[in-house]
Amino acid sequence: MNAAKAAEAAAAARNAQTTDAAIDAAIANGDLTAIHQPVLLDDCVRLVTENLASSAARHGSAPIIVDCTLGLAGHSSAFLAAAPTARLIGIDRDAEALAMATERLARAGFSDRFTPVHAAFDDFVSVLDDQGVDTVDAVFMDLGLSSLQIDETDRGFSYSHDAPLDMRMDPTQPVTAATILATYDADDLRRIFRDYGEERFAGPIAQRIVREREIGPIETSAQLNRIVDETIPRSHRASGNPAKRVFQALRIEVNGELDKLSRTLPQAALRLSVGGRLVVESYHSLEDRTVKRFMAQGLMADVPAGMPVVPPDAQPFFADIARGAIKADDAEIASNPRSASVRLRAVELTRPIPHDRRKTLAREASPVTPADRRRSKGAHGAHRNHTSQRNGRTTGR
Ligand SMILES: C[S@@+](CC[C@H](N)C(=O)[O-])C[C@H]1O[C@@H](n2cnc3c(N)ncnc32)[C@H](O)[C@@H]1O
Repeated sequence: MNAAKAAEAAAAARNAQTTDAAIDAAIANGDLTAIHQPVLLDDCVRLVTENLASSAARHGSAPIIVDCTLGLAGHSSAFLAAAPTARLIGIDRDAEALAMATERLARAGFSDRFTPVHAAFDDFVSVLDDQGVDTVDAVFMDLGLSSLQIDETDRGFSYSHDAPLDMRMDPTQPVTAATILATYDADDLRRIFRDYGEERFAGPIAQRIVREREIGPIETSAQLNRIVDETIPRSHRASGNPAKRVFQALRIEVNGELDKLSRTLPQAALRLSVGGRLVVESYHSLEDRTVKRFMAQGLMADVPAGMPVVPPDAQPFFADIARGAIKADDAEIASNPRSASVRLRAVELTRPIPHDRRKTLAREASPVTPADRRRSKGAHGAHRNHTSQRNGRTTGR
């Protein structure tokens, strides 16, 4: 290692130790906002809680909120504070985040209104069935990673720390980023870098990976950084780390993020009470497009353009309560740079979803996608024991 590389490695190691020490201190102080600041908190609290009373009055029992991405419960603790009669089911596929959130909500005195569930959110229907819950009054999603996951150096999410290429939000799942780099063919690698990372050099990077892995396994973020660095011509680089888009694409693929989102939105809509709300924060254009398209199905009449009369069954069933997408303002972006790309969209269910459209939503809730097939190929390549999500789930109060 030359002197410059050794200095770089030493600085990265110091930085990693500082980050881990800051996380330990925040946990010890019980101040989880020092680790993760909830984005657009006031808007989310308003959109999730302002209609709970009237939605619950229709069915006559306590309102139920489902937070599909509990994280460190920054949003959920504010929902429970703003809605003193509501129950909250908090789902997260990261057991560590779930345990920290559970402790935070217990300290705030919310344990008797909170149920933690270790699951991926596309298990939405079975989570509600396990809890004996039929319909709910609000479903909230704050997509992506928490700052805890990004900052914990050994999870391998960050390109700025050298760590094993893991990137699993749920470490009981079999496929890691290293598995993908070892098992996907060049076409599949190119497709994920292009589609999920919007990487212009997806093809050359995929080819290079396939060549390098014949020499030895690609298992660390430093190796992947070097491969990308040596492949993208200097003259074509935007600002920032050139490997950023490749890391993002791998993370989306490892965790099946877009497929899970596409499957969960219809499940949530099918379980909303009339007056109930679906509120989603996205940080990536592909996620936002998925949410926007899904919501648009219920915001428009289901008739050919130009039809003079819209039959009752074809009327819209959602109302757009965020009026498009809400973004963070300059002050929030300055204090929390992770809010810069947020798009917050929200709809309210204004009437029961017509029978035919329920059937379509039910179909959309459970397709097997090409990405599922790729990951299952990767899982076989991984030759690891697989603990199913349902076995790993913790439920109950
Ligand atoms: C941005 S964080 C949520 C932060 C939270 N709103 C807060 O204020 O503390 C997203 C969380 O969602 C979880 N998550 C992401 N995708 C998931 C999925 N498919 N199923 C369940 N949890 C998921 C991640 O593990 C992470 O903890």
